[in-house]
Amino acid sequence: MSQQREAYEETLGRLRRRLRTLYQCTNALLQAESEPALLRSICEILVAGGEVRLAWVGYCEDDAEKTVRPVAQAGDGVEYLERLKTSWGEMELGRGPVGIAVRTGHACWVDDIRTDPRFSPWRAAALARGYASCIAVPLIAYEASRGAVDLRATLNLYAAECSAFDEHAIEHYTGLAASVAYAVTALRGHLAEDLASGVTALRARAERKRAEEALQQAREELAHVTRVTTLGELAASIAHEINQPLAAIGADANACLHWLAADRPDLDSVREALTAIVKDGLRAGEVITRIRALLTRSSVARGPCDLTGVIRDVLPLVGPEIRRHGISLEMSLAPNLPQVTGDRIQLQQVLLNLLMNAVEAMRAVPPVRRRMVVRATADHRDDGPWAIVAVEDAGVGFSEAEAPRLFEAFYTTKPGGLGMGLSISRSIIDNHRGRLWATANSDHGATFQFALPGMP
Ligand SMILES: Nc1ncnc2c1ncn2[C@@H]1O[C@H](COP(=O)(O)OP(=O)(O)OP(=O)(O)O)[C@@H](O)[C@H]1O
Ligand SMILES: [Mg+2]
Repeated sequence: MSQQREAYEETLGRLRRRLRTLYQCTNALLQAESEPALLRSICEILVAGGEVRLAWVGYCEDDAEKTVRPVAQAGDGVEYLERLKTSWGEMELGRGPVGIAVRTGHACWVDDIRTDPRFSPWRAAALARGYASCIAVPLIAYEASRGAVDLRATLNLYAAECSAFDEHAIEHYTGLAASVAYAVTALRGHLAEDLASGVTALRARAERKRAEEALQQAREELAHVTRVTTLGELAASIAHEINQPLAAIGADANACLHWLAADRPDLDSVREALTAIVKDGLRAGEVITRIRALLTRSSVARGPCDLTGVIRDVLPLVGPEIRRHGISLEMSLAPNLPQVTGDRIQLQQVLLNLLMNAVEAMRAVPPVRRRMVVRATADHRDDGPWAIVAVEDAGVGFSEAEAPRLFEAFYTTKPGGLGMGLSISRSIIDNHRGRLWATANSDHGATFQFALPGMP
């Protein structure tokens, strides 16, 4: 059991690191000002992520040796690179992962540098540096409408462990390489825009738009992953919650069998037990339906959304956790709450984050103080009605110095925290033209609330 847990923690740790790396790369892609600077920061981020010891990018040259020339690098092993000769041609120096990746257009990896014959020209130097496995990923992005954007370059990574690049890692780095290819093309387009005329400018803009779309998609995937992680954390208490109606169903069904076996069956009792079975079945089913909805990859289309319903959707998921910590929950839902336009799943996710944070903030305070209020109110302003949802807790609270950092990505004070909950929640609410903010309570704890414009 503890071994299983260790393995789980390790996977989770790796996923967290990868998410963090991906997030930083996405930011670098968007902020890049020049091609060399972009390639360098991608290498630096990958090495800082801890999964690889050396990262470099090589460009294909059209000289006689068909050289692959390093243009950016980070990590330990710079002199390894200085001496390394690699080619994209068919000769011996082109039969390693770099050459294969360039010629095939697909990632090529070596699980064990000690034994893989394709790596023999570089083996001694690589082993001396402590590299055990490596991968070369071509900087190519495929696009249905225009074919491939191929930079004729590879991103090359070296790890200290054998078989460091499994199926998930390959998928992760291939996706990253595609984003880099787009971003570089956009930068080149941008440069051309400064130099030449309108056509190039238009193309550059299209490339940039494409990069922005990729970024948006990465954001959505990040939101999805954190949603799944949160649900994973809740799994144990939710399972317990579902077990209760299931146990009751078992007991009632047994009683029915017993009554039916009698000479003169007590049909009234049977009917009553069956009604209870139906009710318990629905209760368990409802929780499962809500979990399913939150686990779906895509968010749903925007539509009229009633926030009281969103609150009711989420409470059964956090309810068990609230009870487990002996927290008293008060609800105050205004009856005249205006409807808002929104993506129900995303709004559920925001509320789930706020509620989980409130529960987590109260774990460390004495049980008598554990009180939480969920409040929904209407506010009629000059620009129309607004709906406000607040989660108030009596937990550890935050200091004035912490306040500006709460919504920063990866800011966390929890040992197992990712620090993405509030940052994602804020971007969701911003996207809904609303506002999410935090205030310290006058006595204990904090209040996190969001306001959304109501439908006229
Ligand atoms: N209700 C709260 N009371 C006090 N501090 C809070 C509260 N909610 C958030 N915080 C602080 O803000 C930080 C960031 O919160 P956020 O939800 O973004 O990340 P997290 O909860 O640490 O991790 P996760 O990504 O798993 O949600 C928390 O680590 C905590 O320090
Ligand atoms: Mg959180």
